[in-house]
Amino acid sequence: MMILRTAKDMAAFSDTARKAGRKIAFVPTMGALHEGHRALFREARRHGDAVVASIYVNPRQFNDPEDFRKYARNLEGDLKQCEAEGVDLVFAPTDAEIYPVEDDAAEVPVPEVAMRLEGASRPGHFDGVVAVVSRLFRIVRPHLAVFGRKDYQQIRVIEEMVKQQKMGVSILRHPTVRTEDGLAMSSRNARLSPEGRKKALSLFRSVERAEALYKGGERSAKTLQQAVLDVLSQDPAVRPDYAAVVDAETLEDLITLDRPALVAVAAFVEDVRLIDNGLLG
Ligand code: PAJ
Repeated sequence: MMILRTAKDMAAFSDTARKAGRKIAFVPTMGALHEGHRALFREARRHGDAVVASIYVNPRQFNDPEDFRKYARNLEGDLKQCEAEGVDLVFAPTDAEIYPVEDDAAEVPVPEVAMRLEGASRPGHFDGVVAVVSRLFRIVRPHLAVFGRKDYQQIRVIEEMVKQQKMGVSILRHPTVRTEDGLAMSSRNARLSPEGRKKALSLFRSVERAEALYKGGERSAKTLQQAVLDVLSQDPAVRPDYAAVVDAETLEDLITLDRPALVAVAAFVEDVRLIDNGLLG
């Protein structure tokens, strides 16, 4: 497995791979890898000839400096996991490689779909995501990139960015990988106590409740949203940030679920901010 640190070396690798007719499948990450990321690497392997993973904790997408400071970093362990999954190349740049002082490329605009949910709760978050992913795409020049549905809005933002900027990268959506009891895997779960981890299951249960009601025929967004909030508020240790039932494409409010919808939740458990979601229809 190759490990590259500079944008120049990374771009040179991609150039050679492309000329040799190899299909580059890319998985951007912030490290602290877990089974969710590993599933993305395997998906990339199924669709590409050269699997490239990036490991970069992007300071620009953290609206909360404490969250950035506490974000788990373990490059050595991460590299072992990449190797075990057959990743061909890990791109682990420094800040100066991603955000050089003299960066003459124009900033890519943030698509409209970023304004709600996570975008509203975490001002600046998607500006940072668009800034880093557009730069990574420019350097890595992948044919396709795999993203996890745990961060559903992030996928929609990237899909729109790629479309608007005609970047020519296919975006693959991978389902959320969960622990046996349903908790969506996340690098932030490591900050939960065993007790907190159990409490965090409320997020999954609230999404499940909406899914069950939807299957039973419920189509009122308001009723579904209230059902989600009811589950979350059963435990005072779970502090909801938002619960929403929205159009799965635009992420705009819905009254009646007459088209595919997304149920999305964000909540704090032991001061750790967690998210989960499910698709309805
Ligand atoms: P990170 O949180 O490390 O996630 C990297 C990728 O793994 C994302 O596409 C995310 O959706 C996916 N992922 C995380 N947990 C998952 C799970 N339980 N099941 C399925 N996929 C999961 O998302 C980011 O990093 C950053 O915003 C990034 C795109 C790298 C830009 O900095």
